[in-house]
Amino acid sequence: MDEKDLQKRKVILSGIQPSGKLHIGNLAGAIRNWVELQDSYDCYFTVVDLHAITVRQEPADLRKTTYELAAMLIACGLDPDKCTIFIQSHVAEHSQLAWILNCFTPIGELSRMTQFKDKSQSHADNINAGLFTYPVLQAADILLYQADLVPVGNDQKQHLELTRNIAERFNNTYSQTFVVPEPYIPPVGARIMNLQEPTKKMSKSEENEKATIYIVDSDEQIRNKIKRSVTDSGNEVVFSDDKPGIANLMSLYSLATGRTFKEIEHEFQGKGYGEFKSAVADAVADYINPIRTRFDKIIKDKAYLEKVLKDGSEKAHRIAYKTLRKVYKKIGFVQF
Ligand code: TYM
Repeated sequence: MDEKDLQKRKVILSGIQPSGKLHIGNLAGAIRNWVELQDSYDCYFTVVDLHAITVRQEPADLRKTTYELAAMLIACGLDPDKCTIFIQSHVAEHSQLAWILNCFTPIGELSRMTQFKDKSQSHADNINAGLFTYPVLQAADILLYQADLVPVGNDQKQHLELTRNIAERFNNTYSQTFVVPEPYIPPVGARIMNLQEPTKKMSKSEENEKATIYIVDSDEQIRNKIKRSVTDSGNEVVFSDDKPGIANLMSLYSLATGRTFKEIEHEFQGKGYGEFKSAVADAVADYINPIRTRFDKIIKDKAYLEKVLKDGSEKAHRIAYKTLRKVYKKIGFVQF
């Protein structure tokens, strides 16, 4: 593809926090779409370590998890020859633009963010300013690359709306500067639920190990977690709001097999929950297995990983620098 074609392609940016282990919700809501989109868009995917420190992290763990997450993204199918993978803190413009955007974000808008409210409750001993301005840094991540589309799970929708507001406010004040991005939320898998409490989303911060399917889980662990998951009363496999446990397992089965809900209902018509759960358990274990095998190989090759991340941050920096200079000029900073 020549330089001109590349310039014409629409831009995608998305990010993921290196806190806790990657789970199947991250895959369903975000990463599998990143993999699909990397062929047709100019894609930037970032491991957001600056975001991760809004809750206390053990330094050695943070370093390890950041490497592991980058390796995991490649194991899931991101190809460093097709997309740009980088660590957020390696591109200083993210922090620099975040400061500026803070000055264009009313406190009232930030107070409405449900993630801030949730995290303030779960980390009541450390409600820091970073936790509050977290979505502004996320807006900087997106706006620096002039992203057209942001593939995320449903839980990030509110942050995307805030990003759009900030971009529009800045553009209206200083003339067109930022592309106003659209969220890209998948129709299936946008919200994978906790296996033990299917009305709660599956989350990295969940303490009950049985509630979450991690990508590093063995086939056996995956099968057991699914077989012991909480289901609903009745015995029919149908997708319905009053059957959150079965609906969640249907989403997982759809993710692993590519089948639609209608096809799944047809396949399990007249069969009970037990048979359905066994089929989901096998399908999900088979889906995750090759990813885990690739991950085990990539994580051992530190030189390769470091090269990918270095190339990624250099490419990201070139784009981010251009946008930041434009912003500096518009707001009246003396050029350097
Ligand atoms: P994070 O690290 O919590 O999650 C990464 C991605 O996984 C999606 N996700 C889910 N999707 C379906 N079901 C679930 N149970 C589930 N849990 C998580 C999330 O929606 C997300 O897409 N603030 C972001 C990271 C971020 C970002 C960005 C995203 C920072 N800068 C810029 C997009 C663009 C976050 O905490 O994601």
